[in-house]
Amino acid sequence: MEAFPIPADTYKLGFIGAGKMAESVARGVVQSGVLPASRIRTSSHSNPLRRQVFESFGVRVLPKNDDVVEESDVVIFSVKPQVVKDVVLQLKPLLSKKKLLVSVAAGVKLKDLQEWAGNSRFIRVMPNTPAAVGEAASVMSLGGAATEEDGNLIANLFGSVGKIWKADEKLFDAITGLSGSGPAYIYLAIEALADGGVAAGLPRELALGLASQTVLGAASMASKTGKHPGQLKDDVASPGGTTITGIHELEKGGFRSVLMNAVVAATKRSRELS
Ligand SMILES: NC(=O)c1ccc[n+]([C@@H]2O[C@H](COP(=O)([O-])OP(=O)(O)OC[C@H]3O[C@@H](n4cnc5c(N)ncnc54)[C@H](OP(=O)(O)O)[C@@H]3O)[C@@H](O)[C@H]2O)c1
Repeated sequence: MEAFPIPADTYKLGFIGAGKMAESVARGVVQSGVLPASRIRTSSHSNPLRRQVFESFGVRVLPKNDDVVEESDVVIFSVKPQVVKDVVLQLKPLLSKKKLLVSVAAGVKLKDLQEWAGNSRFIRVMPNTPAAVGEAASVMSLGGAATEEDGNLIANLFGSVGKIWKADEKLFDAITGLSGSGPAYIYLAIEALADGGVAAGLPRELALGLASQTVLGAASMASKTGKHPGQLKDDVASPGGTTITGIHELEKGGFRSVLMNAVVAATKRSRELS
């Protein structure tokens, strides 16, 4: 297979679809210094406000999708899943093997993307909404002609908006059920913790602040100390204390199995939808 390395110091990045996810990734890439804004381009579709958003941090907004592809070495398809087929097919004549193609469209398989593009130098990435605050949990899977260097380049780009792992594409429905849908499960947990605080006499604003910061702090402890969460739990549950009393109530309510069931049910739904 002929190799067309992407020049690390000079490559240009294009987004097809100037929406929320494209904005999060573009901002993260610029803010972290991975690429200057002058090497990023997109085009605005029907909503003129999106042009202003991208131009406000220095990204060039070109008239058409074709211009974006022609001027980019790495092209990220960030349109909604239901339009990705049409968009890729329209651009097919321009999608040469010299370009590295990426899709973030939820539920759209590499096999289809590669077929529509006529190019298997494709990488599928599943980010999640905390990309907007630089804390995404993303997973990527490499298509047939994507090289290890291509994977490293995409890990570097998406690493600027959070963490990224590599996984077999057959795991993507389970990934959707866990990290794709997971932020919403945790929003519910934060709201419920705050409600508990209010029920126990705290003012609403204080309760919400404490609940979100507690979730953030616990997540940081789990990811930064490298300790197993069971160990972290044991470390804070003293005999006959308040924490073990609260944990006992959670266990009575089936807290763990409810969370497990949510991930399994969302995985099943993702499989049905794709
Ligand atoms: N947001 C997330 O956290 C998240 C997480 C995981 C995966 N994703 C994936 O990311 C993709 C984008 O999601 P999003 O949340 O960023 O959606 P979004 O904000 O609606 O962005 C989609 C963009 O695509 C544009 N567009 C539509 N048709 C187009 C065309 N023919 N040519 C060029 N642009 C076109 C839209 O422009 P107009 O509005 O002007 O039509 C819009 O700006 C989706 O496939 C989604 O599955 C998103």
